[in-house]
Amino acid sequence: MNKSILFQQVLIIGLGLIGSSLARAIRERGLAQRIVAIDNHLHYIEQGKKLHFIDCGHDKVDESSRNLIASSDLIILAVPVQAVQKVLSHLKPFLNPNSYITDVGSTKGSMVSAMQQVFGDAIPSGFVAAHPIAGAENSGVMAGKADLFVNHKVIITPLASSSTQAIEMISQLWQSVGAEVVFMDAEQHDKVLAYTSHLPHLMAFNLVEQLANRQDNLDIFRYAAGGFRDFSRIAASDAQMWHDIFFANKSALLQAVAEFEQQLQQFKAVIEQQDSHQLMGMLGHARAARQHFNHMLSKTPLMEKQTVSQQFIIQPHSKALTGTFTVAGDKSVSHRSIMFGAIAEGTTQVTGFLEGEDALATLQAFRDMGVSIEGPKNGEVTIHGVGMHGLKAPASALYMGNSGTSMRLLSGMLAAQQFDSVMTGDASLSKRPMERIAKPLRDMGAKIQTTGEKGTPPVSITGKQKLTGIHYDLPMASAQVKSGILLAGLWADGETSVTEPEPTRDHTERMLRAFGYDVKTEGNKISLKGGGKLTATNIQVPSDISSAAFFMVAAAISKNADITLEAVGINPTRTGVIEILKQMGADLTLENQRIAGGEPIADIRIKGSRTLKGIHIPEDQVPLAIDEFPVLFVAAACAEGQTVLTGAAELRVKESDRIQVMADGLQALDIDCTPTEDGMIINGKGKTGEWSPIFGGGEIQSHHDHRIAMSFSIAGIRASENIVIYGTETVATSFPTFTQIAQQAGLNLSVKEVG
Ligand code: S3P
Repeated sequence: MNKSILFQQVLIIGLGLIGSSLARAIRERGLAQRIVAIDNHLHYIEQGKKLHFIDCGHDKVDESSRNLIASSDLIILAVPVQAVQKVLSHLKPFLNPNSYITDVGSTKGSMVSAMQQVFGDAIPSGFVAAHPIAGAENSGVMAGKADLFVNHKVIITPLASSSTQAIEMISQLWQSVGAEVVFMDAEQHDKVLAYTSHLPHLMAFNLVEQLANRQDNLDIFRYAAGGFRDFSRIAASDAQMWHDIFFANKSALLQAVAEFEQQLQQFKAVIEQQDSHQLMGMLGHARAARQHFNHMLSKTPLMEKQTVSQQFIIQPHSKALTGTFTVAGDKSVSHRSIMFGAIAEGTTQVTGFLEGEDALATLQAFRDMGVSIEGPKNGEVTIHGVGMHGLKAPASALYMGNSGTSMRLLSGMLAAQQFDSVMTGDASLSKRPMERIAKPLRDMGAKIQTTGEKGTPPVSITGKQKLTGIHYDLPMASAQVKSGILLAGLWADGETSVTEPEPTRDHTERMLRAFGYDVKTEGNKISLKGGGKLTATNIQVPSDISSAAFFMVAAAISKNADITLEAVGINPTRTGVIEILKQMGADLTLENQRIAGGEPIADIRIKGSRTLKGIHIPEDQVPLAIDEFPVLFVAAACAEGQTVLTGAAELRVKESDRIQVMADGLQALDIDCTPTEDGMIINGKGKTGEWSPIFGGGEIQSHHDHRIAMSFSIAGIRASENIVIYGTETVATSFPTFTQIAQQAGLNLSVKEVG
């Protein structure tokens, strides 16, 4: 038997859109020796034969089709859901007990009860129900397409009676026609579909019906533009089919309709009352949720970067890098502006907000907890604070994407709330350690659970716990852990304090103070007392020094470069990269130093005027440059002599294992380097006064890590051949304008969308 043949003879009952598409797909992929069909429209059978996607057929399920039925090893019911029971009872006398039977119906509870009605307790073990989530507003045999199911989901709802083999065969059938198979029980299926498919169809029919009944309907339809067209497309769907579905899934659909009516009443009320704040909140929330779902609908889930969808190609460089640029807003400050604005009293205005996916994940999480947030629009966000006790239970798990900062800081805040919550993340975040924050929170009285032996996400938190302040000696230099504990401390009884082994970024402390909260810093000890409140303020987010670092290194390794990066945050807990580059001999100056929004900022000017020197990086600089090491390794490769980094084991638990991933990439580009447990030794290839290529060409994997992708782009400046970097879509997590600025600065970088 041919390897791709799954069935000897497939019988399809019903040659409408789905049945005929499946016949075409089975034929095109050679999955069955023979395809036969029964349809009461004889001309459908004729068409099927003419177009060769069936071999023969009948117009009735009765004695005359006995042979066709008995000799088929797979029978697919593709008739309207309300016709299923009748068809099954006619099929029953002729069924071969070894045949597989499946269906394509849009409701599954009705299918199960039809089987029970016809077969009682003896439902054949070969029966497995399925529902392809693929359709079109067109119907009939001519509307069918062989690729209708490609990249669409098929929900399989096996019964207790279904044999493993039958489940396996039906899954294989759908996978072979290009669909993605998911499993669910029938009841859950009907509930989900009531919201995602049946309600929207009912709404589309309802709107068109409403307009069609108006006296002036012709005018209305004539002038109806995009909105009407988009919304009403599915009202052209097959009436019989939707008639059947609405009845077959009556109770779940009526529940969804009741919730729709309630929601509509809310919109009606805020419009009536001209409550602009509420209306903006509701519209903003819905808009953001739709954008979030957009990624899922287009199969590129927001931050769920399981698949690589983009690559950068950097060609050898000749031009000098020059220009004045403003890099993206600070990620750490952006996260905190949303978090603190949300729990403050009053309205917080944020400017310079980083519209990257990480900070947007935080923003979405607070919207999911009922906070009304306007924007972001050109970096401006308005947060209508709900106060210390105003957050609401999210309807489902909070999705943190790639963002460790969101998850760790929110762990502290959520541990103190009156509701339960769950946080999940993408492939990279799902591998990162969460016990480091869960443990001290438990010491405070929180009920918090991480997953698996390694204590990774998802993180589940049980609300309504009484928290008590603790003193915690941080075992690692982590601003995220420090912040998570201090944030829980806002709601805890008494004093909460943290001592850090080395100073780490202090944005939490600074911003809490800006919101009027008393936070004490004495040496390495930071403390606050619970029970206070935050008062809304305005936050100006500086440009992110971590993003600026890519262009600082770019200029430092590029002959005659002269780049100015404007209004960059130079908070002393973040300036390790400046100190390290200066120690390596970079020509770097800080100009126009000033204070903006409580944070020191400056324009950073850096020139490519001399060859960098290798150094032993002082360990006290490590926490102050923790996110900049990937690009500093690139600088070290271009330096003369050896650069040694120690005391940086934290790099192994970032968005990727940045020691290993950088070492692999550098070695692939002909750099002599050795990864160590807590750092790296890099033998720089630079020679004083020479600006020839340092890196060979090659291919780099970003490992879901934005900073890896950007660092190797910078290496491209001194490469002898093309560098291709895979998985660069992650750059949008922290620096959505990276490619634009890189190209403007003179980098030969092109972006290719793949897959
Ligand atoms: C951050 C702290 C750092 C840093 C991260 C942002 C923050 O992580 O790497 O990008 O905003 O608090 P650790 O505190 O875990 O080192």
